[in-house]
Amino acid sequence: MEINFVRVSQKKFKGKPNMGAYEKVYPNFKWEDVHDEVEWFDGGKLNQAYNTIDKHRNTWRKNKVALYWEGDDGSTKKFTFLEMSNLSNKFANVLKSNGIKKGDRIFIFLSRIPENYISFLGILKMGGIAGTMFAAFGPEAVKDRLLDSDAVAVVTDVKLKPRIDQVRKDLPSLKHVFVVGGKDLKKESGELSFDEELAKASRDFEVEKMNPDDVAFMQYTSGSTGKPKGVMHTHGGMAQQHITAKWVLDLKDEDIYWCTSDPGWITGIIYTILGAWSNGVSQLIFDGRFDPDRWYSLIEKYQVNVWYTAPTALRMLMSSGEDVPKKYNMKSLRHICSVGEPLNPEPIRWAHKVFGLWVHDTWWQTETGSMLICNYPKMDMKVGYMGKPFPGITASIRDENGNEVKPGVEGDLCLQPGWPSMFNGVWKNEEKYKSYLKNGWYVTGDKAKMDPDGYFIYVGRGDDVIKTAGERVGPFEIESVLIEHPAVAEAGVIGKPDPEGIRGEIIKAFLVLRKGHTPSKELEDDIRKFIKTRLAGHMYPKEIEFRDTLPRTQSGKIMRRVLKAQELGLPTGDLSTIEK
Ligand code: PRX
Repeated sequence: MEINFVRVSQKKFKGKPNMGAYEKVYPNFKWEDVHDEVEWFDGGKLNQAYNTIDKHRNTWRKNKVALYWEGDDGSTKKFTFLEMSNLSNKFANVLKSNGIKKGDRIFIFLSRIPENYISFLGILKMGGIAGTMFAAFGPEAVKDRLLDSDAVAVVTDVKLKPRIDQVRKDLPSLKHVFVVGGKDLKKESGELSFDEELAKASRDFEVEKMNPDDVAFMQYTSGSTGKPKGVMHTHGGMAQQHITAKWVLDLKDEDIYWCTSDPGWITGIIYTILGAWSNGVSQLIFDGRFDPDRWYSLIEKYQVNVWYTAPTALRMLMSSGEDVPKKYNMKSLRHICSVGEPLNPEPIRWAHKVFGLWVHDTWWQTETGSMLICNYPKMDMKVGYMGKPFPGITASIRDENGNEVKPGVEGDLCLQPGWPSMFNGVWKNEEKYKSYLKNGWYVTGDKAKMDPDGYFIYVGRGDDVIKTAGERVGPFEIESVLIEHPAVAEAGVIGKPDPEGIRGEIIKAFLVLRKGHTPSKELEDDIRKFIKTRLAGHMYPKEIEFRDTLPRTQSGKIMRRVLKAQELGLPTGDLSTIEK
């Protein structure tokens, strides 16, 4: 069934967009055209952190504010490009003076405080490989990442350090723990005060000149099987991260920009740190919880012009009613973009009513390293569609044999590999990396359709990966922790549509209890708490169903596909491999 989506003319887009008309730009574009958007060193070398921050210190932007920071409690700070450059130089020196070398993995476990961003840039400057972790992660999730990456150092703060302490004994490679605000630290365990180290360090640092295919950072992300995997991104991704921010987010020097994503996720890395600052924009970073009043007031207070957010956030704002936004002046907003999960037409129409702007959807993945299918300022939009491929990108819908299907037919969303920001490996897992490539195409794992005008529409995931509130969650990770609960014998986890229509999907767990345990409301709550504290706040199963058995294949694998079909009242498909 084809849904009747509205086509929106972009003639009314506010101001003169950075990107020309899509129909003219796309056919003639070559990646070489944007080569000079990046500052290169001799011999084809570069450094992403240099391009993000340092290049501005030699220009008029030196004293321009790079970061307007606001904490949950309302405290504020601001940093110029020069200050960000000096502070990240200092941290690069701290790392080096502690014997940390190029190629070493250094992880960041902080909320959105300025030290998070300073650390990330410092790591890249000295050629280290940065990894970020969401502050909501529990000890189990932290351990998985630090262990798999053999991280030698982690940057954290007093609040979050206890979660590292709990798993420290299992992390033999971890030599240094830099603690923001840390006092009375155990020097013999490699604990160092971030602040004291920074104060001692020189603000002069010569950045490491990297090859385009040298890894700059890795982002752990979930698939349908196994633990999260370290997706590796290179310094050479810079040109694409810069140009997508310039053309799709339409960032201009006079803008105040707000990306609501956390650097624990790929969007917070690419479009808060890299692509945004490389465009020299001043940005707001809010280190606080979601609250409609607060969010609207931040737009008003900082006069935010460009806003990059997620469908769940828009739906949550929408559900808080129309009276709340009326209290604030949000006329500064000129461009809104969204990412992470399907953006249905309802919040788009709502946002148009409230802000007078059409939300521009963008599609991409942790693996793609930047936006690939988008709506552009000078391209008419079809409300509810993800848009069209970015210049330089070839997208195609293919069947299971790798053949392209006709417009309107559902298939696998595939991309021609080789774009500059594409991941260049999965940490210690070459096999996984190779599994993404089939018949010469990168297979995204998403099901989609292309209409006769070349617009792409999302259908759903082709695997068991769950998207809850825009966050990518692997069922295996949750199942593994669930069966560690003393009452749980077996667990199968699926995503199902959020009955409240806010979060995209919610997580549902089907559990078989161990002998001697009986289902109860208290037990359900205890299991939820177990996941929240061990794994992460967003990974707990909102719904729990107790069963006597779970459907399994003859080889013993839990059949999530069957659980999902049963839950949604859909045909269960081929059950020939089910355990009898
Ligand atoms: O299923 C698609 C969904 O999010 C997946 C990628 O998740 P992650 O690696 O966490 O990256 C999210 C931020 C870049 C995709 O495979 N997704 C992302 N954007 C959209 C989307 N689904 C529908 N519409 C989108 N615009």
